[in-house]
Amino acid sequence: MVVASAPAKVILFGEHFVVYGEPAIAIAIDKRAYAEATLRKDKLIYINSVNLGVSGFFKGRHFQPEKDKATLDKLVPIKNSVTKVLGKANETIGVNLDIQSDIPASAGLGSSAAVAVSTTAAVGYLVGVKLSKEDVFEIALDAERLIHGTPSGIDPAISTYGGAIIFQKGKDFKPLDVKLSIPLVVGNTNLERSTGELVAAVRRMRDYYPSIVGEIIKIGGEIALRAIEALKRGDLKVLGELLNINHALLSVIGVSNEALDHLIYAARNSGACGAKLTGGGGGGCIIALTEDSRIKKVIAAIERAGGTAFQARKTDEGVRVEP
Ligand code: PMV
Repeated sequence: MVVASAPAKVILFGEHFVVYGEPAIAIAIDKRAYAEATLRKDKLIYINSVNLGVSGFFKGRHFQPEKDKATLDKLVPIKNSVTKVLGKANETIGVNLDIQSDIPASAGLGSSAAVAVSTTAAVGYLVGVKLSKEDVFEIALDAERLIHGTPSGIDPAISTYGGAIIFQKGKDFKPLDVKLSIPLVVGNTNLERSTGELVAAVRRMRDYYPSIVGEIIKIGGEIALRAIEALKRGDLKVLGELLNINHALLSVIGVSNEALDHLIYAARNSGACGAKLTGGGGGGCIIALTEDSRIKKVIAAIERAGGTAFQARKTDEGVRVEP
């Protein structure tokens, strides 16, 4: 039996602006997805996702659900990772895979990527295929394509490598050397949203007001650059202010809403250094940079405001095989 795990991510700065070529910063956080792989005597692939509440057997392309039929599309990306790894092994064998995750799904925290990354590593180790981190990233990115069409690749990258990353369209991901643990509270509105629709709405606004929205996008990039310096210095005060400014810009381009703003003001008013939405917006999560002594207060305030919340920190550990 092999267990591998991989972390969730949050975007600290620069979502949406990154679509237009500006830099963005993402970090891995200490919430993980765990994949447990064991060998089967037959050639089936059995996948059980505890959090999604779905399970079933694959025999080639044929799928046999254990309970509910509507589960296939959620399991196909995971199965894709398994067959890619098995394809690198010479023998045709079957695998059982149990997925358990600490990461809330559909919240912009990269849960599907963390599942693909941990699955790839667990199955690779189980069948004795040596996979570099680059290999794991590529296989997980392929699974993400089945879910999101044209993902930027940031989720599988951060989940594979851990730490902090600067990403910019058309350039390689650059690791960012940050000593600071980046103490955060993540607040979840638990509202579902479509990142694709929000990206399209921003594009319409930019096309209608190119000179206005174009300037906002450029300022978004400048904030990310200033944030890199503040992260290196470990300057929580400046980082908090930059988070607040970044959130204001995201509001201007229409991707925040009342639910997000409600949680953000609850966090700020209870002592967070700064707070913004993270990811696509329109629902999903906020992040609040919060000194250790205030974390409990901020979590309580977000929960009083109707969200769910948890503490998170940067983790430098990407994918790992558990001892
Ligand atoms: O909601 P998430 O975590 O998938 O993040 C989306 C980030 C955007 O910048 C809005 C879109 C993108 O492809 O970069």
